[in-house]
Amino acid sequence: MSAPSIVPVSRVFAPDSVGATVRLRGWVQKTRSSGGILFLLVRDRTGTVQATAKKDTIGPERFDAVEHVQVEGTIEVEGTVAEDPRAPGGREVRASAITIFDAGLPFPIFQEQTEEFRLDKRHLVIRSAPHVATFRVKAELLRAMRDFLAAEDVLEVTPPILTGNAAEGGAEAFQIEYFGRPGYLSQTAQLYLEAMLSPHERVYSLTPSFRAEKSRTPRHITEFQHLEGELAWVNLDGLMDFLERMVSAACRAVAERRPSELRTLGRAPEELLAVRPPFPRITYAEAIDKLAKLGLPVHWGSDLATAEERALTLEEKLPLFVTRYPRELKAFYMERTPGDPRTVEAVDLLAPEGYGEMVGASCRETNLESLRERIVEIGANPEEYEWYLDLRRHGNVPHAGFGLGVERILRWMLRLEHIRDATPFPRTPSRLTP
Ligand code: 4AD
Ligand code: MG
Repeated sequence: MSAPSIVPVSRVFAPDSVGATVRLRGWVQKTRSSGGILFLLVRDRTGTVQATAKKDTIGPERFDAVEHVQVEGTIEVEGTVAEDPRAPGGREVRASAITIFDAGLPFPIFQEQTEEFRLDKRHLVIRSAPHVATFRVKAELLRAMRDFLAAEDVLEVTPPILTGNAAEGGAEAFQIEYFGRPGYLSQTAQLYLEAMLSPHERVYSLTPSFRAEKSRTPRHITEFQHLEGELAWVNLDGLMDFLERMVSAACRAVAERRPSELRTLGRAPEELLAVRPPFPRITYAEAIDKLAKLGLPVHWGSDLATAEERALTLEEKLPLFVTRYPRELKAFYMERTPGDPRTVEAVDLLAPEGYGEMVGASCRETNLESLRERIVEIGANPEEYEWYLDLRRHGNVPHAGFGLGVERILRWMLRLEHIRDATPFPRTPSRLTP
């Protein structure tokens, strides 16, 4: 008789599995022996199952060896699926044979360790249930947004990460030495997406962006996944319509495809299903009025920082669009509001419940002279942006675009205390390893 094929743990719980002979491979979560029987909890990518082994069946030497397999050691179990109401999920695998791949050293991770220690051991900590759930939700989130963009006929393109200019303002760019001259790690793909707009009209990219921000806040990391899009023939309202549909589609997909992971993390899938258009929209001026009435020390021209964004959204269940910020607060490439020289056609999408900005977006300035003036005003060198200015000379069209911080939206979706837990190996001012 040939050996049974290797099956995932989830197969044990299939309706027709009782009595079947199976082979499983996975990581040991727990071992315990009592009265000549070994109880093992084995995890693979599909779930966790109890396996039992009798000393008489697998032999005393093997029994002893398996008993000493450490947490996260790896084994193969061959056995028969049986019903047992005492086992998690009501089933167990009664082993006829166990192979040890790696007995492992004592696993050094415990709940009560300090956060610093756990960050040092991040490569091991990411095996724990909350991290496993988080990164499955993240994968689903990325898939959902890609699916949405494909369905909207937006083309995925691949802009560079190594760049010659710092698009969002030199101070926050990581400078590198590029064969003897300065280069930068990309902070945004936007300028390249704008270049690719002419042949494709609707483009997006998913790339890491880098910000050399020293700010140690629960919403800043120095490397983040940036989903950016650029859409021709779209104005501010069209941009907001598009964004609210994309974010809603992502919430729905995550709720439908990862309900148990959401529950593991304490988020009810129903709450995400309730995230549907239209999202409330207010102007910056209205936001300032509201904040002043709430007693915050703001005036027209104040930046909306963490405290202000929090106050605006604390009671919200839906994300909130804030539009038309003062020109001085925003990047050089944003279009001036027609009829109001003080503001630009910008929109930030703020997460509910105080989680802050998830998307920064705007209509782009198409006037060559205004663009050049702004570049000079912010103290940058227009020569470095010559290639970008060229786009305004050859087939200029009205267009708008956005940048969505993947870890920011995930942080809100999962109500994570700190953004670093939205990424497996967080990069912060104090951490570059593991
Ligand atoms: O608002 P930002 O700086 O906008 C841009 O970079 C535009 N050029 C994007 C575009 O229009 N193509 O960044 C966009 C988003 C923010 O809303 C935030 O979600 C995220 O990127 N982000 C960060 N996420 C984590 N850590 C940081 N340090 C981040 N900085 C920005
Ligand atoms: Mg922004």
